[in-house]
Formats: sequence, structure tokens, C-alpha cells
Amino acid sequence: MGKCFAVVSGKGGTGKSTVSCGLAVSFSRKGNSVLVIDLDKGLRCIDSYFGIDPDVVLDLSDAFTDNDISDVFYKINNENELYVIPSPPADFNINSDDFSVFLEKCGSRFDVIILDLPAGLDFSLIKNVPGIKYICVSNQDPVSIKDAAAVRNALNGISPLLILNKFDVELLGKRKYDNIDGIIDNSGIQLVGIIPDTKDMKMFPITNKFKKRGRIIKALNRITERLAGKSVKLPRPDNI
Ligand SMILES: Nc1ncnc2c1ncn2[C@@H]1O[C@H](COP(=O)(O)OP(=O)(O)O)[C@@H](O)[C@H]1O
Ligand SMILES: [Mg+2]
Repeated sequence: MGKCFAVVSGKGGTGKSTVSCGLAVSFSRKGNSVLVIDLDKGLRCIDSYFGIDPDVVLDLSDAFTDNDISDVFYKINNENELYVIPSPPADFNINSDDFSVFLEKCGSRFDVIILDLPAGLDFSLIKNVPGIKYICVSNQDPVSIKDAAAVRNALNGISPLLILNKFDVELLGKRKYDNIDGIIDNSGIQLVGIIPDTKDMKMFPITNKFKKRGRIIKALNRITERLAGKSVKLPRPDNI
């Protein structure tokens, strides 16, 4: 299988789904075929964030019936090889072995698979996926960081990577906000990248697009390069 990433967080609303979409766009613009699977059961959003027709009828649950699995892949317009599987209904239950087999099948077709999880500490569905990498999306506030540490603990020895999202340089070290070293120490997680708090990111659920230039795609590209094993320098915090 190609690379598989689970985008997780302890606290809700840190930007997992937006970041999942952004990483997927960045990987696909670098020539990878990419699949994003929305695993937030009953609360689907990735299809809407990418502007897929709201009348889509199939979702992840349909991949476990008689359908051909490619029926549940929805292609994203204006990107090369980028596909989404909408999240299943709230009452959909599947065991982790069957889900791993399904991912294995998807892995023969895609270079990169991104799993967008709900907030929280339940990773039971994906625990058997071979080689999966966890990316914890946190904000700068102390509760987000504390919850990122809880994710690391819940993973029992598997080391996640940290994306600091909605980053505001002005908050660094102010009041109860830590500086970047403190954030890394308090979360106990290796930092893989920082994404600034911007209007473009806030508006993505409405615009459904990532600009080809600018701070956001640059930040996303740095992260996908690091995830691909390259060494990319972190810019100065006021230049992210
Ligand atoms: N870097 C960012 N800057 C500004 N707003 C952001 C950023 N990342 C996400 N958001 C906004 O935060 C809200 C929650 O994002 P979402 O990705 O749905 O979070 P989650 O999946 O963690 O619940 C959305 O309105 C989104 O537009
Ligand atoms: Mg989400």
C-alpha cells in the first residue's frame, strides 16, 4: 500500500477536515493520486468542503455492499487525481480487520490515502492498518495542546506527528500561550508543520478551493514534503 495518514485530534474543531483536504490537494498537485476518506460517521463534511454535489448518494458504507468500490470514489474537479469517499451514516459499523482489507484494496490504486477522523481518543477502527502514520492537528491554546498529549498517550507507543493549525504569531508566549518549543514539550509530539490562521482557510468550506500561491499552499507543501521524507526548514514564526 502507498502512504496512509490518519488525521486526528483530541479537541474538536482544530481543523482536521480542512487540513486533510489541504494535505490532499498538496499531495495531488505534486503528481500523486490521492484518496481522502471521511470517517466522521453521521457528520460528513469533506464532500461539502470540496464542493461535491450535495445529492451524492453513495458513501463509505456502500463500499461494503455489492457495489464496485470505485463507485464510492468522488473525483474532485480541477485537481488531477484527487478523490473523496463521503462518511457513512452514524449507525454504520465495521470491524477494523474488514476496514484494513478495504484500505489495502484502495492502496493498490492510490499513492496517498488520508483518513479524516472525528475528534477524540477512539482509534479502534484504524488500529490494524499496517504502516499508518498519525497526524495530530492542534491549535495553540493550552487545552488543545493538553488534548494532543492525550492523543499521544492513547496511541500507546505509536508516535504521532503534530500540525499546529490556526497559528497566530502574535499569541506566541503571551499570557497562557506557549512559545513553539513549549508547545512541542507540552504535547510531547514531533512537529511536522505549522499552518497560519487565515481567512482563506476559514473560507475553504465555502470556496472549496486552495489557491495555487500564497502562505497556505506553501505551508501545506512544506508539510507534505516532510511527510514524504524530505528535510524542509521551518521558516521563522513571523514568516509562516
Ligand atoms: N488555518 C485556519 N485558519 C482559519 N480557519 C481555519 C483554519 N483551519 C480550519 N479553519 C476553520 O475552522 C473550522 C473548523 O474546521 P474543521 O476542519 O471542520 O475542523 P475539525 O475537522 O477539526 O472539526 C472551519 O470553519 C474551518 O474553516
Ligand atoms: Mg472534521
